[in-house]
Amino acid sequence: MTSIVERHKKLEKNVTLLGIGAFITVAIGGIVEIAPLFWIDNTIEKVQGMRPYTPLEQAGRDIYVREGCYVCHSQMIRPFRDETERYGHYSLAAESMYDHPFQWGSERTGPDLARVGQRYSDEWHVQHLKNPQSVVPESVMPKYGFLAETDLKVPDVAANLKALRDVGVPYTDKDVEMAVADLKAQADPEADAGDFETRYPKAQIRDFDGNPSRLTEMDALVAYLQMLGTLVDVNGPAAQEELASEHGR
Ligand code: HEC
Repeated sequence: MTSIVERHKKLEKNVTLLGIGAFITVAIGGIVEIAPLFWIDNTIEKVQGMRPYTPLEQAGRDIYVREGCYVCHSQMIRPFRDETERYGHYSLAAESMYDHPFQWGSERTGPDLARVGQRYSDEWHVQHLKNPQSVVPESVMPKYGFLAETDLKVPDVAANLKALRDVGVPYTDKDVEMAVADLKAQADPEADAGDFETRYPKAQIRDFDGNPSRLTEMDALVAYLQMLGTLVDVNGPAAQEELASEHGR
């Protein structure tokens, strides 16, 4: 017994030995944590329903990032009772797998938006974005009325999707080829959308900003907000099964 303590004393009194010992210990810990990631196929469990964003949703997402909405809003519901009772089912890793960059956020001046889709009407969103205090008098959210006055300009929709494909979002050649047409068709119920809905299941097609004669940034942002959290049926049997396997049950 004493000999172990004596030997350890030697280690503690010699800076070089202690440094080498500490390095080896941390290295073992690091390898155990990191090495398996190189052998498992995927760190994110696939969940049914998740699909790449439509060009219009993606354009709305770019506006969300540009306007810094993430500064006040998170998009990650944590698995705690107070969170799930307020916002709905906790977020799954797969639900942000096509987000580049992710929008989990780190600050909640306003509520979490991960499942805000289809919770309010389009009219509510437009009114709220134009003048938040007109619907929630105590709100500190800034006004974004100019979005309804700004034509949606996406310099190169196809290049946008291609860039996302380069970082792993599985857009097909057809998606890229049809990008501009898809973007316009989603905001115009009169247009012939072709096989848009087959390629993007659960895509909502309508005029989002209440002004059918123009395609504005408001259309894109509301289309994005109305999609959030609606793609995966978190309470349906398929997702429940995947969740169970995720937890090894
Ligand atoms: C300065 C902080 C701040 C910024 C920036 C901000 N918000 Fe908010 N947001 C709030 C607050 C506070 C609320 C809660 C009061 C209210 O509903 O207005 C809120 C509420 C919301 C809601 C309603 C959520 C719910 O569940 O009731 C939506 C949707 C929303 N914001 C979207 C946005 C979008 C989109 C942007 C960017 C264009 C944005 N916000 C920028 C602070 C902010």
